[in-house]
Amino acid sequence: QLNVLHKFKGILFSTMSSKELLNSLDSFDAREDDVFLVSYPKSGTHWVAEVIGNIPNTKITLTSPIEFGDISKFEELKMYSKRRVIPTHLSYDILPRNIKQKQCKIIYVVRNPKDIAVSLFHYYRDNPNLPCIETWDAFLELFLRGDVVYGSWFDHVLSWEEHKDDKNILIISYEEMKKDLSKSIKKITTFLDINVSDSEINKIVWKTSFSEMKSSTAKENYNPNHTICALTSNRNLVFRKGAVGDWINYFTSKQKRVFDELFTQRMKHSELARHFEDYSE
Ligand code: A3P
Repeated sequence: QLNVLHKFKGILFSTMSSKELLNSLDSFDAREDDVFLVSYPKSGTHWVAEVIGNIPNTKITLTSPIEFGDISKFEELKMYSKRRVIPTHLSYDILPRNIKQKQCKIIYVVRNPKDIAVSLFHYYRDNPNLPCIETWDAFLELFLRGDVVYGSWFDHVLSWEEHKDDKNILIISYEEMKKDLSKSIKKITTFLDINVSDSEINKIVWKTSFSEMKSSTAKENYNPNHTICALTSNRNLVFRKGAVGDWINYFTSKQKRVFDELFTQRMKHSELARHFEDYSE
């Protein structure tokens, strides 16, 4: 249990991200047409990946995360001839230099951090690749201190904050996808310069509903190479509740107060935070 995480640049990573791979991130050779799907864990990464994977006639390959695996990773990524969509939970600072230089398209997914905390708490409990934290109270403390995988949620989002207006970056929130999925799908396809008809969008909406994704995952044998999150290859661990506002069932009023204080302190100038603020009260 103790050996499942290790630190790189002060941030906790799963041992499925090897030290050698993390150390060599800057040698990654990005292509101009690469698309990166970036998020803090539990923000809705699999959902957006599924949307992209269901866009018809794309000639796109959805790869496993750039930080997932060992030093052979970049050789593996070189083998794809189609346009690559590469997921990652890396913060802006750690993202390979090349991706920034080439101004590759990046979709950054955000979600209300209270719901993320609850979701990550369950992930810690269910995922054998993460340490066992007994109680919600203990987990929330770790989360607020940033002593969890991929570090502090605040640091992560703030690292992307400065780039929210870059032309090559699309910000999308879990909450807006819940509210109007067709609109979000249009946003994504427009950003990727792909034409999709309304009936095709309706089909994607249906295919990427929580219940559909959950049940098809349970039915199918997913190829572990199709990993989206570097913390697990077991997709069945991903589909828990799929709701906005579940935090209310976990936070005590004192925990909410402490969380809100830190949130205000760290995120008061954040425009990214406006994408989900309405859902955190
Ligand atoms: P919960 O634990 O709150 O249910 P990620 O893909 O970044 O790991 O995020 C996982 C979270 O997204 C989980 O949240 C999961 O249930 C939710 N999720 C996955 N697919 C979804 C979908 N199609 N609709 C709504 N939520 C979804």
